[in-house]
Amino acid sequence: MLSKSNIDIRPIQSKRELDDMYYQRWLVLRAPLGMDRGSEKDKHDYSAFHLVAVCEEKIIGSARLRQLSAQLGSIAYVAVLSEFRSQGLGTKLIKKLMEQAQEKNLKSLRLMARSNTLGFYHRIGFLEKGEPFNFLGIPHIFMYANLPLFCDNVEDR
Ligand SMILES: CC(C)(COP(=O)(O)OP(=O)(O)OC[C@H]1O[C@@H](n2cnc3c(N)ncnc32)[C@H](O)[C@@H]1OP(=O)(O)O)[C@@H](O)C(=O)NCCC(=O)NCCS
Repeated sequence: MLSKSNIDIRPIQSKRELDDMYYQRWLVLRAPLGMDRGSEKDKHDYSAFHLVAVCEEKIIGSARLRQLSAQLGSIAYVAVLSEFRSQGLGTKLIKKLMEQAQEKNLKSLRLMARSNTLGFYHRIGFLEKGEPFNFLGIPHIFMYANLPLFCDNVEDR
C-alpha cells in the first residue's frame, strides 16, 4: 500500500524526469499494445504541462494538460503503473490538472477516454459526448467536464 507521505504529485522538474515520464507513459499506454518506444510521444508534448506522481524518485504516474483554445483544455496520457492503481493516484493527477486548468482560466476540459475507463472519469465529473471511435485498435469516446468542478467533491483518499 502506498504511504501518502512519500508520494509527490508535481510538474516535471528536469530533462531526466521528462525522459523517465515518457518511459513510464510508454510502459502503461503503449507497451501493452506492442508499440515501440517513441509511440508514446506526440507533437504537442513540448508545449504541454506535464504532471507526475513520484515515489522515492520513481515516476509511478503521469498525465498531461494542453490548451486547445482560450476556454478548452485537453487532458491526455493519464497513466498509473499497475502496482499503484486503485489507491487514488489517478484521481489526484486529474484533480491537480483541473486546478492547473482553472489557474489558466479554462472553462472546460476534454479527454479521449478508453471505453474501459468511463467509470473512473464519471467519478470525477466527466461525461461522454459524441460517438465512440477506435484509436490504436481500442474503443474510445470523448468526455468533457466544465470548470470549476468543485475539486473538493473529489474526495482525497
Ligand atoms: C485509469 C487509471 C488512470 C486510474 O488510476 P487509478 O490510480 O487506478 O484510479 P483511482 O485509484 O484514483 O480510482 C478512483 C476510483 O475509480 C475507480 N476506477 C479506477 N479505474 C477504473 C476503471 N478503469 N473503470 C472504472 N472505475 C475505475 C477505482 O476503483 C476507484 O474507485 P473507489 O473510489 O470506489 O475505490 C489507471 O487504472 C491506469 O493507468 N490504467 C491504464 C491506462 C489507462 O487506461 N489510462 C487511461 C486512458 S484513457
